Formats: sequence, C-alpha cells, structure tokens
Amino acid sequence: MPFSALDRQKEIYLRGLSGIRSGISTDAVKLEENAKAHVSPRAFAYIAGAAGMESTMRANRDELERIRVVPRMLRNVEERNTSIELFGKKLSSPFLLAPIGVLELVHPEADIAVARAAAEFEVPFIFSNQASYSMEACAAVMGDAPHWFQLYWSKSNDLVTSFIQRAQRCKCSAIVVTLDTTLLGWRPRDLDLGYLPFLEGKGIAQYTSDPVFEKMLEEPEPSEQSAQKVNLQSIQALITMVNKYPGSGFINKLRSGNPVKAVRKFVNTYSNSRTTWDDLKFLRAQTKLPILLKGILHPDDATKAVDAGMDGIYVSNHGGRQVDGSVSSIAALPEIVRVVNGKVPVLFDSGIRGGADAFKALALGATAVCIGRPYAFGLAIAGQQGVSEVLMNFLADLELTMGLAGCRKISEIDVSMLGGVSR
Ligand code: FNR
Repeated sequence: MPFSALDRQKEIYLRGLSGIRSGISTDAVKLEENAKAHVSPRAFAYIAGAAGMESTMRANRDELERIRVVPRMLRNVEERNTSIELFGKKLSSPFLLAPIGVLELVHPEADIAVARAAAEFEVPFIFSNQASYSMEACAAVMGDAPHWFQLYWSKSNDLVTSFIQRAQRCKCSAIVVTLDTTLLGWRPRDLDLGYLPFLEGKGIAQYTSDPVFEKMLEEPEPSEQSAQKVNLQSIQALITMVNKYPGSGFINKLRSGNPVKAVRKFVNTYSNSRTTWDDLKFLRAQTKLPILLKGILHPDDATKAVDAGMDGIYVSNHGGRQVDGSVSSIAALPEIVRVVNGKVPVLFDSGIRGGADAFKALALGATAVCIGRPYAFGLAIAGQQGVSEVLMNFLADLELTMGLAGCRKISEIDVSMLGGVSR
C-alpha cells in the first residue's frame, strides 16, 4: 500500500480532534512502558532484557544519540522517495523486521500477526528460527510479500539442510545466519526469574514442524539427572509443553512422551559452538538464495564473510543480549562498511527506535535497517494492529526526517549529513 508520512501525521491529529488516541505511543520509551503493562513479568523480562549489566544495550542507544544529524536547507524536498533496492528487488522502504523468537510470550497470534502487518506495508519479515509459528504458516499469510528466514546453526547438519529447504519452498528470498548465539548469553532478568520459555515448549515451532526433527526424536537422548521438583509450577510447565506440541488429544500427546522429548532434543541440539569459517562452505552448497551473516561486529569478520562467498553482512549485537560490554552496533558499522566497500549489502540493527536512528545508520553506510524490540512491543499492546502502527510510525518518521534534513532519496543520505562522527 502506498504510504505517506503526511497522511499518517494527519490521521493521528484528526483522530485526536475526535478524542481518539492510539495505545501505540510514537515515543519509543513509552511504547516499551506500555507493553510492560500488557504482558507477564517473565515475558517482559525476556523481551526487554539483555546480557549482564545491560551496558551493550545502553551503548547501542547512547552512541546512536551521540551522532547528530546536520540538516541542509533549500533543497526542494517536496517529493520524497524512501525506496531501496536489495538483492535485485525494489523495496518501498529501507526497513526490515529483525527476527525475534518466542513472540507468543506477548501475543497469541505472535509471528502470524507480525507477518500480516509486514505484508501490509511490504516490509520484509525475517522469520526467526525460534518462532512460535512455522515458517510455512507465516509465509501462507504473506502471499507475495517479501519474507526471509533466519537460521541458527544447530548441531545437526541434516536439520540445517531441512530448514533451508523448507525456507526455499515457502519462498523466503534470503537466509540470515545468526552467528552470535552459539551459546545463550548471561541474562540476569531471565536468570533471576529462573525462566527460559523454550523449556515450556515455546518458540520451537520450526522444530516441531520439521520432519527431520521428528525423526530425531526417535534417537535416544543421553540420560540426564533432573533436579527438577514436581510441584504445581512444574506440572503447569508440563501442561504448557504438551499443549504447545502439534497434534490433537492431550492424553495421547502426553503418553507419546514427544512433547518432553522435543524440548529435550531442542535444548541439546539448537546451538553449535563448534562452527568455524570453514563450515560456511557447507551452507553455501545448500542454497542459491542470498546468505547474510548476522552478528558481525569486526571488520576482519566482514572481510572473511565476503571472501567466503556470503551475499550480505548484518551488523548487530543482538540488541545487547549476548556480550555485555560489547562494542555498540552503530560504532562497529562505519569500519565494516569501509572494508566491505560496496561488494555486498550491509544490514544493521540494535538500538533502532525511530526514523532518525535509521537515518543515522543509513548515513553511515547501512543498506537497510532492521527494527527489533519496538515491533514486539507493538504486538504486545495491540497484536497485528500494534505492529502495523509501529511500522507506520517508523516509515513516517524516517520520511519526515529525510525531508527535513534535505534528502529526497535514500542515496542522498550520507555521512556528510552527520555531525559527531569522525570522517
Ligand atoms: C532477538 N533477536 C534474535 N535474533 C535472531 O537472529 N534470532 C532470534 O530468534 C532472535 N530472538 C530475539 C528475541 C528477542 C526477545 C529479542 C529482543 C531479540 C535479536 C534481534 O534480531 C535483533 O538483533 C535485536 O532485537 C536488535 O536490537 P533492538 O533494536 O531490539 O534493541
């Protein structure tokens, strides 16, 4: 649908005249606060939290804020075009939706609601490896609208192959391989609540819908000593696990033991801390789709990725959820852009909270920008409508920032538009 920032602005003010105000705040801080009121403390901790002292998450924001836009005047910005080209396809904006797992924590329609909202605005949605609905279910509601798949490299290469083949079949147009989660970060908010959603069978829909994974359930698991006490809470967790498992008949599913086996198998398989640069050959041989590496923060890694035949770099520190004290994503971007030197697109996320942030990342050379937590907060507050509103607000904000800074198109947004960065 064609989108206009001025129409969005007008719509908000005209509704205001009739006393109607949206529950989706245009202020990123309030959006997060409002989302908190809509979800359980555990869900909020999982979505909003980060690793350690959360200093990486703060640095993402602080360093984006330190960079300033220097607007230019008298440049005739009546026509503003936010479109970009990515992997040979035209997109009406430079935004994508970052992969976010376990969205069922904040809304029952989870990824499906996000997929619908993304399709409405032709913003590519990167399906998470840890989604609450299978990639096929999400692709089905998106039709021809662009969607990608994000892969976590598990210990089973057969499973990796199966995920990639499924992504191809459901018309994903690129594969994002997230490299920064070979181990789960140390996340105090979740640790202090003793809560990991996967143990309730949440966020493992890509696995429980997979034929290779189903076969893997027949393999014996190494016997584990469980220190878990049986109490009301552990029984509730078991009930959730069984309900989450595909198929009908609670008792049959419980008797099969598959829900518990699936969670155990997932925990033992999902991450692979042994992968090295050499392993990329295996991935490259699996697909002709563009492959992007997510979590790149060092220019040498970006160079290695390009040398390994990867099609894109995705600069990210996972929203500060992995390494506390990590370099901020925005500080890492310029040097990576310099070494990549236009050979492949460079995507960016971590800390993007509005149009001006996207403008800054684009000015520093990002080809496109991914929105993370804000859309999950919109989902928490108002489901699909909440995600749509968050998207409209980002689109409007970027278009207006562009125009007010004196840029008519994305290619005019460059480092000369910024202050507070060394050139
Ligand atoms: C994530 N992120 C993520 N990344 C990924 O590659 N696969 C995933 O399944 C997830 N899951 C996930 C869950 C939650 C709750 C969050 C907040 C983030 C990271 C995500 O793609 C992105 O890198 C960050 O969200 C960017 O940071 P901001 O902008 O959200 O702070």
